[in-house]
Amino acid sequence: MAKLIINNEAKKSTIAPEIYGHFSEHLGRCIYEGLYVGENSDIPNVNGMRTDVVEALKEMKIPVLRWPGGCFADEYHWMDGIGPKENRKKMINTHWGGVVEDNSFGTHEFFELCRQLGCKTYVNGNLGSGTVREMSEWVEYITFNGVSPMADLRKANGHEAPWTIDYFGVGNENWGCGGNMRPEHYADEYRRYQTYVRNYAGNQPIQKVCCGPNVDDYEWTKKVMETCFDHCEPRFHGLMDGLSLHYYTLPETEDNWDIKGSATDFTEDIFYQTLKRSFFMEELINRHGAIMDQYDPDKNIGLIVDEWGIWSDVEPGTNPGFLYQQNTMRDALVAGITLNIFNKHSDRVKMACIAQLINVLQSVMLTDGEKMIKTPTYYVFHMMRHHQGASLLGSELVGSGTVGKDKNELPKVIESVSEDADGVITVTLTNNSLEASEEIEISLTADSTSYNVKEARFIAGAMNAHNTFDQPEVVEEKDFDAFEKDADGIKVTIPACSVVTLRLAK
Ligand code: AHR
Repeated sequence: MAKLIINNEAKKSTIAPEIYGHFSEHLGRCIYEGLYVGENSDIPNVNGMRTDVVEALKEMKIPVLRWPGGCFADEYHWMDGIGPKENRKKMINTHWGGVVEDNSFGTHEFFELCRQLGCKTYVNGNLGSGTVREMSEWVEYITFNGVSPMADLRKANGHEAPWTIDYFGVGNENWGCGGNMRPEHYADEYRRYQTYVRNYAGNQPIQKVCCGPNVDDYEWTKKVMETCFDHCEPRFHGLMDGLSLHYYTLPETEDNWDIKGSATDFTEDIFYQTLKRSFFMEELINRHGAIMDQYDPDKNIGLIVDEWGIWSDVEPGTNPGFLYQQNTMRDALVAGITLNIFNKHSDRVKMACIAQLINVLQSVMLTDGEKMIKTPTYYVFHMMRHHQGASLLGSELVGSGTVGKDKNELPKVIESVSEDADGVITVTLTNNSLEASEEIEISLTADSTSYNVKEARFIAGAMNAHNTFDQPEVVEEKDFDAFEKDADGIKVTIPACSVVTLRLAK
């Protein structure tokens, strides 16, 4: 039997709620239909935001939402998306599917959505094709509480009070779709643009996110940190609060974006390969983190993994530019593994946004007109929400072995553990095996025998089990009862291909 030893005598880093964040781009049916249907839609909505989706996201405790892209962000001109809707520019979304973007969802709509969700805001600015002035004026429009041209324009457009920007991305993927820049060039541009992302008097300071590397481009991290990290006087609030990292898991090929593999039809080998590739996140955090440590040993700058998840082939018959893919138990395990890794590195990882919220890539929900279904990934975020804001506890798992062969070998069980403000301990575990359940004896270094399981939930199923609009409940979060307490601790048996959450309390 494997053993999980939890050190509940020392609290480690706080798990930022934002690690459980999400990303919404003007791409396919993410914004339009997925989140926003307009005030006149037959689909129940509040101010245009669909009610079923908003309610489900609140239940999942969505902590932060990134918008408007993605590659779209570096082509987005925010003034196109304000004022009377009938006057807003209609244009082609050149990046994604060549469809008409009517700009009916813009700044006011984004902040209304976040108000309904009760989540923090992460706005991504346009450095690739926008001007410094444009970026600066957007921040003024959104946050300035006084008399100024942009604040007056906001008021004229119907919003008297300013909003709060919690995070601001100064460009996106500027090594690629955001301008194809060299790190030296981007870093200088970052220094200039971020200067005008103003913190107006009385406002909570905006956390500025600098564009970080693509996957394992360690050179980018080094050069950008070298130029942008600065020991500023606190009154200037530093040059950067976060450095982004993007990493997508392609199931079938290392980096051939033409053959990514089906979302639902795959072999056991591909299943393990996908899990192993998602486990690579740990190495990426360690290695980029080590470079960041050279400049920022106190870990004040967050590594912001603001795009991650499985990127598979689109569902047959759908617009290739819409990136619409199904979501199976394999996605659930990728989410569970990755979120456990983030928790364990929460001293450096301060925010992460899975791509993307709805109807695009590894989504938590899918819609078809008025129908909405939750994906296996949704249930993982829901079960793991208890970690948000809790303190990481040290945990050691011994004797559970590995799964997958050769280059695809990875630990059979991956866990993380935290303790919340009420002393409740949350243990989340993934069983990455397709064949075998795992018996685990859980003990704590202090007061072990006084803990009981107060709540336990899980999802499990075949590797490609998924929900459809006809069968929306094939994979669902359920009560978990395969545990018992004896003199040695709490014994659990976690089923093959599952994600389990246990809540322990005295
Ligand atoms: O999430 C889809 C795209 O992937 C984003 O627009 C871009 O930032 C990344 O390449």
